[in-house]
Amino acid sequence: MAAFLGRHSYPLAPSSSQLEGVRVTVAAAPAPDAVLGVPVVPHGKLPTDANVTWQTLAGCNFQAKPGQTFVLPRDKATLVLVGLGDAGELDAARLRNAAAAFARATESHGRLTMMLADIGAVPGDVAAQAVVEGILLARYRYGVLKADTAVTPIAEIVLVSDRDIAAGAERGKVLAAATTVARDLANAPPALLTATAMAQAAQSLGRERGLEVEVFDKDALIELGCGGLLGVNAGSSEPPVMIKLTYKPRAADGSAATSTGHLTLVGKGIMYDAGGLALKPADDVHANMKNDMTGAGSILAAMLSLPALHCPTEVVGYLMCTDNRPSGTALAMGDVLVTRGGKTVEVTNTDAEGRLVMADALVLATENETDAIVDIATLTGACMRALGTQIAGVLGNDEQLIDQVKTAAYATDEPVWQFPLARRYRKELDSNVADLKNLGGPNAGTIIAALFLEEFVAGKPWAHIDIAGTAESDDDVSWHPGGCTGFGARLLVQLAVDFRPVTGSGR
Ligand code: BES
Ligand code: MN
Ligand code: ZN
Repeated sequence: MAAFLGRHSYPLAPSSSQLEGVRVTVAAAPAPDAVLGVPVVPHGKLPTDANVTWQTLAGCNFQAKPGQTFVLPRDKATLVLVGLGDAGELDAARLRNAAAAFARATESHGRLTMMLADIGAVPGDVAAQAVVEGILLARYRYGVLKADTAVTPIAEIVLVSDRDIAAGAERGKVLAAATTVARDLANAPPALLTATAMAQAAQSLGRERGLEVEVFDKDALIELGCGGLLGVNAGSSEPPVMIKLTYKPRAADGSAATSTGHLTLVGKGIMYDAGGLALKPADDVHANMKNDMTGAGSILAAMLSLPALHCPTEVVGYLMCTDNRPSGTALAMGDVLVTRGGKTVEVTNTDAEGRLVMADALVLATENETDAIVDIATLTGACMRALGTQIAGVLGNDEQLIDQVKTAAYATDEPVWQFPLARRYRKELDSNVADLKNLGGPNAGTIIAALFLEEFVAGKPWAHIDIAGTAESDDDVSWHPGGCTGFGARLLVQLAVDFRPVTGSGR
């Protein structure tokens, strides 16, 4: 443990475990002293005890637009009007955003009540889930290294409804916990969350939740021939690890249940990406490179929540963890790596390291019985340039699988946009000395990175999610506070729970 970290030795904020203590209940009516959020649409019904008219509200610049809130202090209670925007456009994402706005408007309160009685077309349990997620995720702060985070943690959420929405509310808590773990891991500084610490976190949390956790150390990686991960690690004084997580569905009595399919997840776990000998400049991108393990973190976080959701799919996760640093022993430009299975890669840029560590795991994924492989990585700056910080890229060799990723992305409001897997660009990866090189020309960086990964999936149904842009949020955006977003955790949970083996006809 680095001396400069003082007494801090655990990378996860108390928030991860505190979420388990949050009470989420459903009540027929709000308590008289509640901090009560009341969703409203423009010119719609106002609560009778609000004692305001739309004319007055408009004079105070409240039109019930999405994200707008209006606080009305009462004797004991606090009433907060929460804008939903036009009723015809209401969906789960809008509700999640509205709940987040409510949680922001009431930052000094730990117990929030939200009216869910007239939520229009959104099914009750979906609405309940979205509201719980929005409230919990908007209040998230990484508090491990900060004396005062200035927001009160949520202790209780009461949803007011006469419908049976308890299961949806509970799901919301589980999914918010997944994102919280992913955020804690990504926000943890590199000296606190080394590859070894990541393995320890996976072991303690994974075993607690009933996942199988196997940790492959440097010797085991040499044995497996994982030259990609070993090569990237060559410059580091911290050892690499590959973490293999296995979730198997269980029947109610704890016995093994037959699964509805096998899904393999592969995550980029670069604990800190300095670029290696191709050292990154000291700019904002470099300053955020502790988040280069968000792919691996989101897989760990997602898989931790599968048992609670009784996910019917069998899921295996490979987390490829190391940092990427320059030193006298670091990988050089021109070095050739032998990846798992024997393919050789000429390293023409040590900063294109994510694809190198992923290659080994993709090959391992193809060696086991699996219906599909989905990888997730903060892979290319080009993806961030193309899609910005709120939309991730998706590419792959199977349209049915990509459609499942898009469906999960829509449901969780972790949006993706598909790039073409344009094989006409494959020749950019041709090398004079090895089977391929790790970087193409200056254009189409996201596509060419995906073409590199495709070389290792042996034609199995595969989709790749590039989260380089979405892993970090500069400032507060709906349910993201500024910092690491944990993007991908909820998407992967949804994907795993709803996964159906693809028939292959989509290829
Ligand atoms: N981790 C980065 C990608 C990245 C960039 C993530 C910006 C988040 C924000 C990746 O390892 C990388 O360094 N990519 C380089 C490749 C370069 C050598 C062409 C990039 O995309 O700039
Ligand atoms: Mn890099
Ligand atoms: Zn990287």
